[in-house]
Amino acid sequence: MGMTVGVVGLGTMGAGIAQVCLEAGHAVVGVDGAAEARERGLETVRRGLERRVEKGQLDAAARDRALARLATAEDVAGLADCDLVIEAIAEVPAAKHALFAALAAATRPDVILATNTSAISVTGIAEASGRPGRVVGLHFFNPAPVMPLVEVVRTAHVEEAAYATAIAFAEGLGKEAVPCPDTPGFIVNRILVPMLNDAVRALAETGVEPADMDRALKAGAGWPMGPLALIDLIGVDVQVHASEAIAAGLDDDRYAPHKLLLELMAEGRLGRKTGRGFHDYGRP
Ligand SMILES: NC(=O)c1ccc[n+]([C@@H]2O[C@H](COP(=O)([O-])OP(=O)(O)OC[C@H]3O[C@@H](n4cnc5c(N)ncnc54)[C@H](O)[C@@H]3O)[C@@H](O)[C@H]2O)c1
Repeated sequence: MGMTVGVVGLGTMGAGIAQVCLEAGHAVVGVDGAAEARERGLETVRRGLERRVEKGQLDAAARDRALARLATAEDVAGLADCDLVIEAIAEVPAAKHALFAALAAATRPDVILATNTSAISVTGIAEASGRPGRVVGLHFFNPAPVMPLVEVVRTAHVEEAAYATAIAFAEGLGKEAVPCPDTPGFIVNRILVPMLNDAVRALAETGVEPADMDRALKAGAGWPMGPLALIDLIGVDVQVHASEAIAAGLDDDRYAPHKLLLELMAEGRLGRKTGRGFHDYGRP
């Protein structure tokens, strides 16, 4: 039975999450701060569905039905009928806290409010909402339509029924729903973020060529993609912020971003999205 899902923030993650929800048969209401960002997000969803059709994974009629279930709204007032809302705005604690308080005021009391945060405390977000029993983390991976994992983050406040619904919802999207406690970086980033920082440290200290490092990890450790190409895909800025958040959350400088990452960020070399990071992609 399809639900009505609100997606707040139609950037990289929000657009992908909206596409996944539409493909699973849900109706989606997308909200973004700026009209331009909303239009860009819609275009990303359309392109994503089109790609499925081109690959033979979706027929044209299913694409049309999915698009007919997609609506947008200017702000959270448009989410009053939602059964579940997934937040995917910028990784800024104060912005998420303010948004969750607004979401709690704008939605039905039985709605589930989910954050896609990578490294901000879900417990803090839940408390800021004033409705902590209904808040979970639904941590999708990039690109959301492709990556199978969703970490379903449990806080001490969450109601059992709400948590069980969140697990069932993620499974219903065809995802691998993995329960995890609300600790910095959850499961994957707690391990992956410091591993990627170590790759950057090795790059800086050894002088190995970036392409050679990536080839070595692919051929020698079975990584589907080298660590530097992976940082370029994730975004250098995202890796920096995730590292800083985990370092702060665990109060351990060992997790702090390597200075080479900070230098790339200062130069605007953020990876694929700017056309250049550790590797050169030509145009973004
Ligand atoms: N990019 C990734 O690899 C990745 C992976 C997993 C989780 N995340 C998390 O997902 C979230 C979104 O990341 P992203 O990479 O999609 O960011 P993004 O910058 O691509 O998109 C964020 C969108 O949110 C909008 N926005 C910002 N503040 C808003 C507000 N108050 N109300 C409505 N819209 C607002 C922006 O206009 C933008 O369109 C972050 O919390 C991030 O940590 C990112």
